[in-house]
Amino acid sequence: MAEAKKLFIKTYGCQMNVYDSERMADALGASGYVTTAQPEDADMILLNTCHIREKAAEKVYSELGRLKPLKAANPDLKIGVAGCVAQAEGEEIMRRQPLVDLVVGPQTYHRLPEMEAIIRKGARAVDTDFPEEDKFDHLPRGPRAMRGPTAFLTVQEGCDKFCAFCVVPYTRGAEVSRPVDRILTEARDLVERGVREITLLGQNVNAYHGMGDGGAWTLARLIRALAKVDGLERIRFTTSHPNDMEDDLIAAHGDEPKLMPYLHLPVQSGSDRILKAMNRKHTAESYLRLIERLRAARPDLLLSGDFIVGFPGETEADFDDTMALVRAVHYGQAYSFKYSARPGTPAAERANVPDDVASDRLHRLQALLTEQQRATQDAMVGREVSVLFEKPGRLPGQLIGKSEYLHAVHVHAPDDQIGKIARVRVTASVTNSLAADLL
Ligand code: SAH
Ligand code: SF4
Ligand code: F3S
Repeated sequence: MAEAKKLFIKTYGCQMNVYDSERMADALGASGYVTTAQPEDADMILLNTCHIREKAAEKVYSELGRLKPLKAANPDLKIGVAGCVAQAEGEEIMRRQPLVDLVVGPQTYHRLPEMEAIIRKGARAVDTDFPEEDKFDHLPRGPRAMRGPTAFLTVQEGCDKFCAFCVVPYTRGAEVSRPVDRILTEARDLVERGVREITLLGQNVNAYHGMGDGGAWTLARLIRALAKVDGLERIRFTTSHPNDMEDDLIAAHGDEPKLMPYLHLPVQSGSDRILKAMNRKHTAESYLRLIERLRAARPDLLLSGDFIVGFPGETEADFDDTMALVRAVHYGQAYSFKYSARPGTPAAERANVPDDVASDRLHRLQALLTEQQRATQDAMVGREVSVLFEKPGRLPGQLIGKSEYLHAVHVHAPDDQIGKIARVRVTASVTNSLAADLL
């Protein structure tokens, strides 16, 4: 047998890219590739890229510059760009970067084996189609090796919402939900390989409407079916849109014990004027009412969010509304970004808020969010939580895992507890984690 070729994948962007990188490794596994953690050893390097903000997209070009010496040292090295920058700027990448052999978008990576054969012959290959066929039906399953206790599983992809600032509907395409039976099969396979916690992924995961018994299923119905899989202990999902938070999903937070009490529910802004300009189709008030209903179903639900400051037209009064919303919700965790104009999106045509004004607002918002995150974490001290142990900690005899609220928790526990869930009592809150003792 020929010696295996080595594949190095660098992943940027969201969790879906993490999942996609695994699937690309599976696809190229069928062409004789095994993954390596060392780019210097690789026969092929793939950059799985993100286009969400300008900074994210620019990283690709600087990373490609850094790969030049590797290609000079090894002319057989093949370099590919995958993901959302590939989708948005495929032709431009090929023009600007002669060292790139292959460009593949997020919906065509099941075609990687054919593309690999083409580039091995010395040609270049670009595929940024939105194909008729479903890539998931054409992907080989990876080797059935054991793996860590947590995994991502994409159930829905793409977005039909067209928020005025966002590239995702263009880079990922229209909303598509995978059929129920495929998801259950993949989940059972993950559990057999040691997985205890699955995070269901979708750009609009709560808009899930995949075909199952008797027609299209909601995300709540899918979660309830997954909860019946023996050995699967924890279920999470991300990312959700407020307008798709249906009653049965809210109820599941109260009555499905395997569904973890953590919800990422981006709102972007607290100003109705800006929400309208963003094409979000909800108000600050409707979001707050939704949070109330979720907390009524699950009082200890930890909320996470995304915010954009400096959206075109945002005034100081609009920003005050965002701060007020944050104070009203009290987030356990959140991400906030300065607006970045993205080519091809409606908002890119509008006048930007001056950069220093946006930076100042981001500062103030992040200070408030950090304070809330701190307070939420500190309030865990003295409480009993359950931890799924993932790996050894930094100190000998210590393991690190996640609580149901997604806090990182350090515990003194034997190595054979990895992959298991234990009850612990939180003893301290440090910068980005909790310390706890086994009960
Ligand atoms: N599908 C998810 C999130 C997609 S992108 C959702 O709808 O919530 C993740 C986050 O990046 C967004 O929630 C938003 O806060 C941020 N984001 C998207 N486009 C952006 C832009 N042009 N500038 C700054 N932040 C942006
Ligand atoms: Fe982007 Fe809006 Fe779709 Fe989220 S809902 S992916 S922010 S367009
Ligand atoms: Fe980035 Fe594409 Fe995800 S733009 S955030 S990698 S969907």
